[in-house]
Amino acid sequence: MSSPIPSYHPHLTAIGSYVPERKLTNADLEQLVDTNDEWIVQRTGMHERRIAREDEFTSHLAISAVQNMIDTFQVDVSDVDMILVATHTPDLPFPSVACQIQAHYNIQQTGALDLNATCAGFPYALHLANSLIASNLHRKVLVVAADTMSKITDYTDRSTCILFGDGAGAAIVESKPESQAFLGARLGTDGHGGIHVYRTGLSDSIDGRKLDGNGSIVQNGREVYRFAVTQVPLGVKELTETAGVSIADIDWFIPHSANMRIIESINERTGIPREKTLTSLEYYGNTSAASIPLALDLGVKSGKVKPGDLLLLYGFGGGLTHCGLLVRFG
Ligand code: UT7
Repeated sequence: MSSPIPSYHPHLTAIGSYVPERKLTNADLEQLVDTNDEWIVQRTGMHERRIAREDEFTSHLAISAVQNMIDTFQVDVSDVDMILVATHTPDLPFPSVACQIQAHYNIQQTGALDLNATCAGFPYALHLANSLIASNLHRKVLVVAADTMSKITDYTDRSTCILFGDGAGAAIVESKPESQAFLGARLGTDGHGGIHVYRTGLSDSIDGRKLDGNGSIVQNGREVYRFAVTQVPLGVKELTETAGVSIADIDWFIPHSANMRIIESINERTGIPREKTLTSLEYYGNTSAASIPLALDLGVKSGKVKPGDLLLLYGFGGGLTHCGLLVRFG
């Protein structure tokens, strides 16, 4: 006996975001390290970042982003049956940020877990939410992506401190009786490249190789740059071809907001126009897992992104890992 074809499909129905109040401008950075506004703008496209207070952690940003989504979309989170939080800067190793969100909203019957796919975390979490719902095991998933990069940044290292900022995004993926919204995903990993961007934890070595940084983020910017501008265009090509979607069909391209030059190079190599690309780095910097939902939320709140628009999200970062996702909004 064949199983019935489900008439319900997972949909990305709501988005919200939050950034801390304090701004860190390029002029402020000029006071901290040997750098200047012109170099930063030319090499990265960044003007400002937001920095969490000393007593403000990833869970606080995450809960504020969920609240912003609730207020904007009037969604009910009391009936979510899974909370996924993409972060690599949780307040504590455990309990997870996801458990803190569950406690804050007193959600009665839900699973809750943090996942770490660094800057690719948001598309990764959406992919998992889609899979949980498509399998018919879950109905409504709260997806959050949040990082407090300022807590792990060395503000004496000019090659990293100019890049990072803090922020959070939140979304709902839920089952709806409408046609398919998640059209394809592509995930890829190069664990050998992990050495190019890392942060020490309980151990300070990878595969016997001693690491620097003493708990702060360390990166070989050029290697990460090379990884992104080669892997993302390849991923976009494979993802769109597999899904039977043309570049012209994509309404909005939302890559990880790591660096404007990386994004421009991806635009050039994929043929996706800059005008169809949404970013969050100009005034928020590289907010790691939060950068894609922040850009999507800016797009929705400004009226650019409309229900039914086809989005191509593409995250990449530490691991090294990357994840692309084609999904219709709403
Ligand atoms: O989210 C994922 C994690 N990370 C990334 O995505 C980072 C990806 N990489 C990048 O964004 C870029 O590689 C950076 C912005 C980090 C660096 O830009 P770059 O064009 O690759 O510069 P570079 O590292 O090749 O350095 C060029 C020069 C060097 O001077 P010399 O050796 O040519 O004399 C650096 O010392 O720029 C110098 N430099 C700076 N100068 C002024 C490096 N940082 C700074 C700075 N201000 N903040």
